[in-house]
Amino acid sequence: MYFDTHAHYDDKAFDADRNELLSRFPAEGVEFVIDPGCDIPSSEMACRIAEGYDFAFFAAGVHPEEISDLPFDWLAQIEKLASHSKCVAVGEIGLDYYWDDSKKELQKEVFEAQLKLADQLNLPVIIHDREAHGDAFEIVSRHKENRGVFHCYSGSAEMAAELLKMGWYLGFDGPITYKNARKALEVLQITPLDRILIETDSPYLSPVPFRGKRNDSRNLCYIVDRIAEVKGISHEELASITAQNARTVFGIKT
Ligand code: NI
Repeated sequence: MYFDTHAHYDDKAFDADRNELLSRFPAEGVEFVIDPGCDIPSSEMACRIAEGYDFAFFAAGVHPEEISDLPFDWLAQIEKLASHSKCVAVGEIGLDYYWDDSKKELQKEVFEAQLKLADQLNLPVIIHDREAHGDAFEIVSRHKENRGVFHCYSGSAEMAAELLKMGWYLGFDGPITYKNARKALEVLQITPLDRILIETDSPYLSPVPFRGKRNDSRNLCYIVDRIAEVKGISHEELASITAQNARTVFGIKT
């Protein structure tokens, strides 16, 4: 049984068959999913999905690519959503300089405001860091009170070692199965088993052999296969350890 700690079932890619797909999960080996919001409407939608399924949880947050045109009370709206009983984290939040690096200061401001909110609410955070490793590291180093996961971690092994020392979890996704996964494999090698989270980032980042197709949580088996192989343990063991890690970091008791 797998725990997918990052899947965007609110995405329009699932509009045609969302309920059909999700209702099959318990019978198909998917034990839990967390749907992180990217802005206010998607956090609300993720909340509605979580209300519909015992196995679904959500996170509320504003993604760094969604910071333009935020309503004046955006933080209060995220706070309200984050207080819902099925909200397990503030996310996904962070920095992304890949598509647009013209709003770095605003990205940092929105990121730090949400780190503070997570701390106030005693919730972990789900961090998105793309091409912004130096700044992301600098910010979390100043916010030692925060905890959580670097989702789809793409930084160096050196930075990973520092983050692990600070108590962070690292999320591994489909790219770990790609041929050019050298850097991610180096990171995986130094990451202790009790700090690994598995994620699909559905509908994106499908693992081999489904690269380029719509992703969903059932494909976690390919990610688990690869990680278990690198770590030299069984598929079942890795699935169970990572599910336990997810329960620990997100405070899920069942
Ligand atoms: Ni995501």
